[in-house]
Parts: sequence; structure tokens; C-alpha cells
Amino acid sequence: MCKDSILAAYKQSCIDYYNHMHDIYFDKYHKDLEYKAYDKEFLLRFIGQLPLKSKILDIGCGSAAQQARFFRDMGHQVTAIDVSEKCIETAKQKFTGIQFKQMDMLDMNFENHAFNAINAFYSFIHIPKEYSHTLFSLCNRILRPNGLIAIAVYADDFYGYYDKNEIPVFYRSYSQAELTTLLLGHGFEITHIDERQAIYDFEFQCERMYFVAKKQ
Ligand SMILES: C[S@@+](CC[C@H](N)C(=O)[O-])C[C@H]1O[C@@H](n2cnc3c(N)ncnc32)[C@H](O)[C@@H]1O
Repeated sequence: MCKDSILAAYKQSCIDYYNHMHDIYFDKYHKDLEYKAYDKEFLLRFIGQLPLKSKILDIGCGSAAQQARFFRDMGHQVTAIDVSEKCIETAKQKFTGIQFKQMDMLDMNFENHAFNAINAFYSFIHIPKEYSHTLFSLCNRILRPNGLIAIAVYADDFYGYYDKNEIPVFYRSYSQAELTTLLLGHGFEITHIDERQAIYDFEFQCERMYFVAKKQ
């Protein structure tokens, strides 16, 4: 399969899957930061490093937009994007004070240096490795110098289509070495790495990795 058809297939699987699952995701996850002390602590440490009223981009916010709302509630100016139009529709109906846009993270058309920070919780897992370079270059371009990026991904050993639900969806996990190489190779300095097992019974049961990096 050529590179463009890999992309088209992966992207369509995400759109179909999350368009179909947007309300289930909303019900399941809209309160998850109340229960996930680990994630909340991580995000608090992350935003503790940002100027007041920072411009933050949340990539792959989903219908529940948990992290975007967290940043909004801490007084930041938040833009949140997702490739699934149903996720964006739901988020727009439910939440105010966030600029929601339906947008593909591989086709982000923001100005250079538009944001102080980027957050990407479990969204880079949907990008095939052939497109990592495009993604990390774009993130670098839209961040200000010294801007920060927080990334959470799965860290088990999966690459392919997850087909336990009605609609198969492409996802992949990362190794620490791969994510480190991608960040260092795209002008970032890594300031924090952590890994954890699934510790909450309501979350997808696999190992997770959390990175913070600074644009040099
Ligand atoms: C596992 S959900 C994570 C949602 C939320 N950040 C969270 O932590 O619960 C992944 C999200 O990434 C979005 N996504 C997948 N591919 C994308 C792309 N190319 N551009 C933008 N969003 C994408 C999906 O539609 C989905 O809402």
C-alpha cells in the first residue's frame, strides 16, 4: 500500500470510530480527571511551568475535552482540535470558553509560533509512523521558542487495527526510545518522562508513557 493510502485508511478509521463512539466516550470520560489523580498531577506540573493566560492547543480533544477544560479552568486560552466532526460538535454543545475546531493534526494551519504549549493526550497513538516527521515538524512550527509540549501515549507493543469494537480503528504504541528520538530530532529538549501501568479499572488496560518537552 502506498503512503497516501495508508494515511487515508488510518484517518478514515479514526473518523468513523470516534464519530460512532463520541457519546459513549463522553459518558465514560468526561469526569475522568476527577478520578485520575496521576493525570491531574501531571497536568498541574505541566501548566505550572507556563505563563499566565497562555495560549494552549489541545490536539485530539475528543468529545469530553477533559484536558482542554482543565486548562481553561486554570485561566488559559485554549484551542482544541479533533478530526472527528461528531466529537467537535458534542464538545461545542457541552462546553464554553474553548475554541473548538474540526482539524486533522497532520494538516494544522495555525500561524508559526501561535502557542505557548501543546497538549496531546492519547491522540498521537492514531498517527502511523510514516507521518511522525510531519506531525513533530508541525508541532515545532506552531510552538513559540521555549514552548512546551505534553504527550501521553500507550507504551505496550501494539501497531495495527484494534477491532474489539464495532468499527476497527488504527492505533499504535510508542517505545520510550522512539518518542525520545522523535522529539530530539525535531528541535525539542526532553524535560520529563514517566511510565505507568493501567492503575484505574475504567481506563484502557495497557502501559502508558508521559513526556514533557521544550522547544529549543
Ligand atoms: C483516545 S482519544 C483521546 C481523547 C482525549 N484527549 C482523552 O485523553 O481522552 C483520541 C482522539 O484523537 C482524535 N484524532 C485521531 N486522529 C486525529 C487526527 N489526525 N487529527 C486530530 N485528531 C485526531 C480522535 O478523533 C479522538 O478524539
